[in-house]
Amino acid sequence: MSMFIDTVDVNEVEEISGWGVVSGCTTNPLIVANNASIGGKLDLKKRVMSIVDALKKPVSVELLSEKAGEMVEEARKYHSWNREYINIKVPFSADGLKVINVLERKENIRTNATCIMSFNQALLAALAGATYVSIFAGRIRDMGYDPAPVISDTAEFISSRGLSSSIIVGSVRHIMDVNDAFKAGAHIVTVTPDILRKMLRNPRTEETIKEFNDKFHSAREKGMIS
Ligand code: E4P
Repeated sequence: MSMFIDTVDVNEVEEISGWGVVSGCTTNPLIVANNASIGGKLDLKKRVMSIVDALKKPVSVELLSEKAGEMVEEARKYHSWNREYINIKVPFSADGLKVINVLERKENIRTNATCIMSFNQALLAALAGATYVSIFAGRIRDMGYDPAPVISDTAEFISSRGLSSSIIVGSVRHIMDVNDAFKAGAHIVTVTPDILRKMLRNPRTEETIKEFNDKFHSAREKGMIS
């Protein structure tokens, strides 16, 4: 079980990678557009390369084209930026499956099948050879369905068939979604820096540390500890 970070904010990647808990990074066009609207003009290649340099772990970059031929060309371009760490996020569709099959089995380029909302889609992505199968828990819940069976059925399918895909659960809205995803069988959960920071916090932990330190300092001030 591992955690990825879902962001294109390099400062956050640099800071949080120091915690030693992040095994990869996921990005998507919406995250890129939202980040650009905060920080001015964003150069996608420079931004992705800064994340790769800061993390030195797998980084998913998502395709924007929708036809298989153009998608393969676009994938080759992103992969050429860094052949060791960049993998290609392929939006789920029939063309997407063709692209996953070609990239994984003919071009030795790792893929991340994305925007997956159902077990049927997840099993097709795994059979096509995707390295990562990204199930969007929050968006499944937005439609009124429970993402847990989608995750657990996919985990069972991958393991019973001896497939090599890893399930990434994304679209995480609350810290309990992380617990639920791992309990259902996710191999990886990708979360925003904001969710990662919320995972740190517990008022009882903070109170306890303060209680220990206050008592120690007060005893030392009284000369009881040298
Ligand atoms: C995961 O790879 C996606 O980038 C992301 O988690 C999507 O989340 P959203 O539903 O908040 O857009």
